[in-house]
Amino acid sequence: MRVLITGHQGYLGTVMVPILRDAGHEVTGLDSGFFADCVLGPAPADPPGMRVDLRDVTVEQLTGFDAVIHLAALSNDPLGALAPQITYDINHHASVKLARLAKAAGVRRFLYASTCSVYGAAGEDLVTESAPLRPLTPYAESKVRVEYDVAAMADESFSPVFLRNATAFGFSPRLRADIVLNNLVGHAVLTGDVRVLSDGTPWRPLVHARDIAAAFLLALEAPIDRVHCAAYNVGTESNNLTVAEIAQSVVDVVPGAKLLITGETGGDPRSYRVDFSAFREALGFKAKWSIPDGAAELYKEYVAAGLTADDFANKFTRLAHLKSLQADNVVDESMRRITTDV
Ligand SMILES: NC(=O)c1ccc[n+]([C@@H]2O[C@H](COP(=O)([O-])OP(=O)(O)OC[C@H]3O[C@@H](n4cnc5c(N)ncnc54)[C@H](O)[C@@H]3O)[C@@H](O)[C@H]2O)c1
Repeated sequence: MRVLITGHQGYLGTVMVPILRDAGHEVTGLDSGFFADCVLGPAPADPPGMRVDLRDVTVEQLTGFDAVIHLAALSNDPLGALAPQITYDINHHASVKLARLAKAAGVRRFLYASTCSVYGAAGEDLVTESAPLRPLTPYAESKVRVEYDVAAMADESFSPVFLRNATAFGFSPRLRADIVLNNLVGHAVLTGDVRVLSDGTPWRPLVHARDIAAAFLLALEAPIDRVHCAAYNVGTESNNLTVAEIAQSVVDVVPGAKLLITGETGGDPRSYRVDFSAFREALGFKAKWSIPDGAAELYKEYVAAGLTADDFANKFTRLAHLKSLQADNVVDESMRRITTDV
């Protein structure tokens, strides 16, 4: 298939592109390039791409594709809290416009990167796709609004599918240090401590970046009736762990690391355990990566690449890097690129 992937120069996109290409798909990227140079280790081979802000996409740029995989977003809660209106502009309004233009351009399939954080505070019970959505942050709220608005566009010519991914982990050449397992392993490597600021009790479902890529490939190639306007949780029940359990898996792989549960931020209302059976049953999805295996992979990659504390805190932390792009006048206060050559 001819596939346009937005956010192809992000953490997940950089892992997904080679998996789509290896499966025989013709892949084109679209990204504002905020993190294009935020690479750990050898530079990845990007597909042909357009450096375009999502808010400026045109119908011509979407013409000729069989599918759009939409990953581009301001991708986490701290970013959303810093600039809620920009988060809604990019993550909600521009995403809905992208879907509308894709439909107008004759694109049949639209795969959307949603998140399990749409469930918000869900307590101890496993949540299925039909559970009430209780987003707790502008980021999660923006994802709910896209699902709602884009579902309303579905018809025989346009089949959106909403993949509600668990929190990702694992190595990507365009690393993110601000997601829980990647963060804990990095701190352990750099300081010797595995430091948990909450009381360790919140549940976090996790899934490896390569398993997310495999899930998108499955949905891309699925019979259309299995994905048409469906929402699926993407992950595996065995990776529903508490933050304390995730931290313990880091202690187990980083030599000499010590566990510190400081509790200084108290409990965290974002706690949810997720049921992943619907996607497994509809499409046979099986996540391959466990958290201990992911922690071991990250440890190996960080040590091999000589990860530094400065890069960990700045280059690979989404909020810090975007602030530095603003300070350097690469992007303006609305996160639009001022220069195109950096
Ligand atoms: N990583 C996770 O744990 C996780 C979990 C669930 C869902 N998701 C979703 O998956 C998607 C990808 O996540 P990621 O971890 O790769 O994030 P990321 O921040 O690494 O990548 C996002 C990409 O989008 C691009 N982008 C941002 N704003 C843009 C704009 N206005 N115009 C064009 N491009 C823009 C960035 O340059 C970046 O390359 C996001 O939609 C995110 O919400 C991620």
